[in-house]
Amino acid sequence: MANPHILRVMAGDVWAVGSVYEAYVGRWSRPVATEFVRWLAVPPATRWLDAGCGTGALTDAITANAAPALVVGADMSLGFLKGPTVVNADAAALPLATGEFGAVVSGLALNFVPRPGDAIAEFARVAKPGATVAAYVWDYTDGMQMMRWFWDAAREVDPAAPDEGPRFPICHPPALEAAWTAAGLGEVSVRPIEIPTVFTDFDDYWQPFLGGQGAAPAYLARLDPDRQRAIRDRLENQLPRQADGTIALTAVAWAVRGLRVESGTNRADVRMA
Ligand SMILES: C[S@@+](CC[C@H](N)C(=O)[O-])C[C@H]1O[C@@H](n2cnc3c(N)ncnc32)[C@H](O)[C@@H]1O
Repeated sequence: MANPHILRVMAGDVWAVGSVYEAYVGRWSRPVATEFVRWLAVPPATRWLDAGCGTGALTDAITANAAPALVVGADMSLGFLKGPTVVNADAAALPLATGEFGAVVSGLALNFVPRPGDAIAEFARVAKPGATVAAYVWDYTDGMQMMRWFWDAAREVDPAAPDEGPRFPICHPPALEAAWTAAGLGEVSVRPIEIPTVFTDFDDYWQPFLGGQGAAPAYLARLDPDRQRAIRDRLENQLPRQADGTIALTAVAWAVRGLRVESGTNRADVRMA
């Protein structure tokens, strides 16, 4: 599905070349997506929507693990999407029929929607009664260590650095649970998904930050060379090393799921009434 060479730009956070995004976050999104899909345990032959599908990490995990009838991918970035089962759309205004999907999911995208509640209401609307509505986001404040180390170093050099921790209030378990409940979803639960993120050496950690893809690399690209070097030097000195030279970090994503209850009680139905 993904065309790795198309330019994609999103609201100050740059998502440009798919292959570069894969080296930065895509490679870590994939194991989270696999665990997430297993946790949902959605029955085979279900119609899925993957909102904010990007390079297709979650779509691929659904296809490999859930025997879906169909996976529709939706993403705002023009030109990236190809094929009959993708739509170029804002997650907060999906051009899709009400009650169309048996599972509606989103990976690492919800926090980039300006008003996440609008997207969640849309997820609930396009889900059919009884459908699973679920998402995961990085724990930017703490558990996504690769980014935590970066932003801590960046703030030492530039106190105004746009740290993704405070920037994304939706990326906390109580906020996710409250947002799912506010959308009228039932049986809401939240869990962490932790994966190892082992970098072979400092270059393996640092090079993807130079690709300009995603919030931290896009921020880094805007800095003058002296401050870029200062951040790099701090990280090279501070990151923990194993005896073999690897940098063994972990990444935590918060995953939330709920069930679309019968018609009439979801926020989306109330708004449409
Ligand atoms: C960090 S990437 C995640 C991509 C993929 N789901 C993954 O797990 O690797 C965030 C994605 O969300 C998309 N996105 C951001 N805001 C969006 C919106 N309002 N509607 C649809 N997609 C959006 C971006 O274009 C980008 O592809």
